Amino acid sequence: MLSKEVSSSLTFPELNTWYADASSHLGFPHEPAGLYNAVRHIMEMKGKRIRPVLLIMGCEAFGGDVSQALSPAYGIEVFHNFTLIHDDMMDESVLRRGDPTVHQVYGANTALLAGDVMMMYAYRFISDVNEPFVKPLLDVFNKTAIQVMEGQQMDMDFEKRLSVNEDEYIQMISYKTSVLLATALQMGAIIGQASEADQQTIYEFGLKLGLAFQIKDDYLDAYGDARTGKRKGGDIIQNKKTFLVVSALQGANEEEITRYQTMLLEKDTDKKIENVLEFFKNRQVPEKVAAQMNLFYQDALASLYKLSIDEMHKHALQQMAHMIYHREY
Ligand code: IPE
Ligand code: IPE
Ligand code: MG
Ligand code: MG
Ligand code: MG
Repeated sequence: MLSKEVSSSLTFPELNTWYADASSHLGFPHEPAGLYNAVRHIMEMKGKRIRPVLLIMGCEAFGGDVSQALSPAYGIEVFHNFTLIHDDMMDESVLRRGDPTVHQVYGANTALLAGDVMMMYAYRFISDVNEPFVKPLLDVFNKTAIQVMEGQQMDMDFEKRLSVNEDEYIQMISYKTSVLLATALQMGAIIGQASEADQQTIYEFGLKLGLAFQIKDDYLDAYGDARTGKRKGGDIIQNKKTFLVVSALQGANEEEITRYQTMLLEKDTDKKIENVLEFFKNRQVPEKVAAQMNLFYQDALASLYKLSIDEMHKHALQQMAHMIYHREY
């Protein structure tokens, strides 16, 4: 079955290839080319395909019909890629997955429209399932899609704030990122006809894993290498209140806080990145990141172990969680 292939394909490039095969019958039209070339530009990049793989694994864990999960899995990846196009506009990012971002290549207007049309296609793909699944899937998906946008606004609001506390930060990343991983798993579980209790538990697993995932994303933005395919230090340039900033300011005295706030005014971006990285180092940020990620990861595994699924499927999900936790891009 497909998820066996997924769980035995333990690198992201292998997952990308697996996913390209699984979704090869799904796709977009060619005209108007000005629109769909932009859509293809992002969809054909080498993403990790975490969300569709989680959806399919969630389905298989409960013995569901995987053929029913393929179109929703594609839909959730289309939705994710739509959010990336708009996110790159909001974050003024020029690089994504090692290539120029959609708005850089096709302009802001087409990037907006490509995102819009992808959202509608996401609904079409998610709805392309047997009738009894349509409403349950759309109900959880709608709730989550709204939260993603609310989380993205919080992320932008926080850029203008001088500091953000840990609870506010967790709320923000839970919405902009974690809920989509959680929902991917729950949608799979719905197709697998899991009980309400198991749906909630697998959602919790995804939510906690998603928190660790976003903290790692924040970490890689500052400390990752070329494999991230993003501009190093982009979050520092944008004054993002990442976990790195939140943890650096925890327990800081007034002098240290003022020093950080002064760094944000630096116009020379290389110098700004260098100064902030030095500040992070002095505030033991890499150690705090590792500790917090581990807490969420252990929480995630605790939920995973509670699921009423067989050991083989628990193991597959654990392997996937492990890979997400240890990723370098
Ligand atoms: C990037 O997600 C956006 C976030 C929610 C942090 P991924 O790291 O899953 O990006 P791709 O799809 O693999 O490129
Ligand atoms: C993106 O968070 C979250 C969404 C796309 C909803 P980031 O802005 O941190 O993601 P990257 O780092 O650009 O991939
Ligand atoms: Mg971004
Ligand atoms: Mg962003
Ligand atoms: Mg990021």
